[in-house]
Amino acid sequence: MTAWAELHVHLEGTLEPELIFALAERNGIPLPYADLDDLRARYDFADLQSFLDLYYTNMQVLQTAQDFADLTDAYLARARQAGVRRAEVFFDLQAHTARGIPPEVALGGVHQALAAAEAQHGISTGLILTFLRHLPAGEAMAAYRQAVETGVPLLGVGLCSTEIGHPAAEFADVFSQARADGLRTVAHAGEEGDASYVWDALRALDVERIDHGVHAIEDDRLIDHLVGERIPLTMCPLSNVRLKVVPSLAAHPILEMLRRGVHVTVNSDDPAYFGGYLDDVVAGLRAELGLTDADVAQLARNSILASFASEAEKARLLA
Ligand code: HPA
Ligand code: ZN
Repeated sequence: MTAWAELHVHLEGTLEPELIFALAERNGIPLPYADLDDLRARYDFADLQSFLDLYYTNMQVLQTAQDFADLTDAYLARARQAGVRRAEVFFDLQAHTARGIPPEVALGGVHQALAAAEAQHGISTGLILTFLRHLPAGEAMAAYRQAVETGVPLLGVGLCSTEIGHPAAEFADVFSQARADGLRTVAHAGEEGDASYVWDALRALDVERIDHGVHAIEDDRLIDHLVGERIPLTMCPLSNVRLKVVPSLAAHPILEMLRRGVHVTVNSDDPAYFGGYLDDVVAGLRAELGLTDADVAQLARNSILASFASEAEKARLLA
């Protein structure tokens, strides 16, 4: 089976409806939904913000370290079925501390599952702390310090949530600090925002990968820059369809970018919300965008090469 790296997945976005109900029951939390069908009926999104509103509401069922561990372990088990052998997962610590969950509970639970991932699932992992760009940058710095204090190992930092109107440059200090501490850097850009948001993330934050980058296709100079500097885009085509960033999978720019030499990768983003895990995304692209076996093999290879795994591990996963 082809080995894949998943480089763009939000752990909270892997919270399946069944687990929402199970955790609500376990923790005695009332849900505003009559049943699973009532919840699922709300997964028809108009845009990024309408998704984020539901995403932040649903994650309130996550209370104990065991809840975070169960969430993470369920993702890893499902990802392995999709062929994932390396997972660099995003975690929105601020979304949990803001509702009173201590950082050591949230991060401790995630870490418990990640630490067992190699033995349990044959997946090597890394944890990327994603800052919420709709909140002030000072809060990102505070979250970063809290995360470091827990002692849970971090692979990197990233930037997500509401894009338009929240410039990447505001987060330059916390990204510089993380880089000085030896962490890797990524940022969401060009999802709803235009190509200028991608330029901003590259210039102001000096990130090593761009998450999404769909709108880069509108700027030839940017495409040349991404190709020349070999800056990967971690793209999420199913997410882009569900959040109306593109009208259909058939209209997604990932294949054109691949042909033009951009280091694109394919990912699931929030698989519990957007219709599937990595294997589902690849199947959709084969069916609707006409990806060939060779294209799929190239995307798998790109994913390993764009990961932050060691060179030895990359060689092992590519073999
Ligand atoms: N975009 C921005 N922030 C997010 C997303 C996304 O697709 N998913 C979870 N947080
Ligand atoms: Zn994302």
